[in-house]
Amino acid sequence: MAISVNGRAVETASLRPATLLVELLRDGLGLTGTNVGCDTAQCGACTVHVDGRATKACNVLTVQLDGAQVRTIEALAPGEHALHPLQRAFSRHHALQCGYCTPGMLMRAAAMRAEGVPAEPQAVREALAGNICRCTGYEGIVAAICEWLAAGAPDA
Ligand code: FES
Ligand code: FES
Repeated sequence: MAISVNGRAVETASLRPATLLVELLRDGLGLTGTNVGCDTAQCGACTVHVDGRATKACNVLTVQLDGAQVRTIEALAPGEHALHPLQRAFSRHHALQCGYCTPGMLMRAAAMRAEGVPAEPQAVREALAGNICRCTGYEGIVAAICEWLAAGAPDA
């Protein structure tokens, strides 16, 4: 059994059957950008992509993912010294304070274009219903995501 994490093959046959994806990412692979806020599938801090879909990594067993492609916040930007357009938009709109929710917010947002979420505040707020931010009041987050969705340009 194996999965791909950020393009790297990861053998999973030796893991405990109860190993959560977030445990593999953080404890097994050192990918600590994926945060744990609640561990009960409510806050969204652990959001990653599984086969392109936003997925809460605290709520899925690794054994369920054989053959899947997992992408974490560490692979969102196009390179070591470049930011993803969503990250630039978050910066412009002051869409973070403590930053704890931010990796999950970004990964949730990055899946919205493929889902056809329109660049409208209400639609973005509804799409963010599973991601909680205790600091910002969401205004900057929603504005940043709307701007990125409206741009519709390739992610470079
Ligand atoms: S830690 Fe996964 S949803 Fe909160
Ligand atoms: S910026 Fe602090 S929880 Fe969102």
